[in-house]
Amino acid sequence: MATATGGSAGRGSWGSSFGFILAAAGGAIGLGNIWGFPYTAAQSGGAAFVLLYLICVVLIGLPVMFAELSIGRATHKSPVTAFKALAPRSAWWLVGAQGVITGFAILAFYSVVAGWAVGYLYKAIAGEFSAGLTPVETQQIFHDLVANRQIVTLWTFLFFLAGILVVQGGVHGGIERACKILMPLFFVLLIGLAVRSMTLEGADKGISFLFNFELQRIVDNPKVILNALSQAFFSMSLGMGAMLTYGSYLSRKENLPWAGVSIGMADTAIAILAGLMIFPAFFAMGGTIDTLSTYREEALVFVVLPTIFDQLPAGQLFGIAFYALLVIAALTSSISLLEVITAFFVDELGWKRRSAVWVFGGAAFLLALPCALGLKITEDMSFMSLLILIFFQYSLLVGGFFICLFVGWAWKPQSAIAEMTAEGKTFPGLPFWSILIRFVCPLVIAIIILNQLYTAWKG
Ligand code: PHE
Repeated sequence: MATATGGSAGRGSWGSSFGFILAAAGGAIGLGNIWGFPYTAAQSGGAAFVLLYLICVVLIGLPVMFAELSIGRATHKSPVTAFKALAPRSAWWLVGAQGVITGFAILAFYSVVAGWAVGYLYKAIAGEFSAGLTPVETQQIFHDLVANRQIVTLWTFLFFLAGILVVQGGVHGGIERACKILMPLFFVLLIGLAVRSMTLEGADKGISFLFNFELQRIVDNPKVILNALSQAFFSMSLGMGAMLTYGSYLSRKENLPWAGVSIGMADTAIAILAGLMIFPAFFAMGGTIDTLSTYREEALVFVVLPTIFDQLPAGQLFGIAFYALLVIAALTSSISLLEVITAFFVDELGWKRRSAVWVFGGAAFLLALPCALGLKITEDMSFMSLLILIFFQYSLLVGGFFICLFVGWAWKPQSAIAEMTAEGKTFPGLPFWSILIRFVCPLVIAIIILNQLYTAWKG
């Protein structure tokens, strides 16, 4: 009966604005922050990437976030139904449909990585990382885990089960309640680990790797811009209707732009803090920039960190804390992905929440199976990397592009601004936001997608 923040009858709603911010920040903060951000920063020259990332967040991420939250709250509907409500008898609902499909696919590969994290948490608790490991040995541990398909499937399954159980409890009783416990725990663990890492001897190299901006590095490598934008979309959960769906459970009493800024700032701060947890420890333990850029995606979190924990005093404890943190972050995000899919079947097709969660959570698990089982499409591409390529690199940006066009040109910025300023709310710079959402955001996103396609095509 949580009507404090509104929503249309029967759909459920957030119990408080703080609960909403925690849940939405929980959805945004995930593997993208702890795993993706440090990895992409390592690949893309550190500080140069960080600077571009911040620019992408402010100039593109936040405007799209405002757009999604406004569509969601204006309609109190999940993506497909929301576009149908605002633009009846048009094809805009396809943008929502693309979002639901994207959520489905992301949930599949995301849960497998989360499954690895569960496996590592188990290993950390069992003390497997505390026997003077060499990097070659930790590499082997990772390979053995991934190659042990039954175990990966089991961890992935358990991870799915946890998400399904939370989402079936509803927006207020399930998601919000879980995030209110998990997110504070997450913050405590992260701050503890970052402080430990930054107080190690030699940690300053890691800090300057993240903050010592050398503009030349960006000019040298334009791909950094692309990496920064895809990473910002993924990390802020934009372009597939997650923020739209979470916004649909809000009442008009809420100040939407401020909520958007809080979520975006929390997400960015956590990504940077994750960098401050990983890089100082990495450099302090003798890592170098040259080795850093040679790591594969999974290496930083699953191969390099275990060797570092092993060298730290009370390393086992830090190992347990770190993998617990990773699992929590992944769980609150996968909940938001599952919620987008569930809300679609509830709003659009009138399903009961419980049935929708189990049927489509189950279906997403089936899609996760080929990822967990390491299915290969070609000699050097796995099914999982294909999903990541399509849905991480392209789909979110394409979705974001159409959301900008919809709000900028079909629904019109004035309507979104009326929604954002409902009940006398104010936010500075909304006319500037109109310009961003109409011209700057779609143009930049389009250039970046086309450039990416062109480079991929040229091979
Ligand atoms: N933002 C999440 C993360 O950083 C991933 C995600 C993307 C969640 C899109 C929902 C929607 O891990």
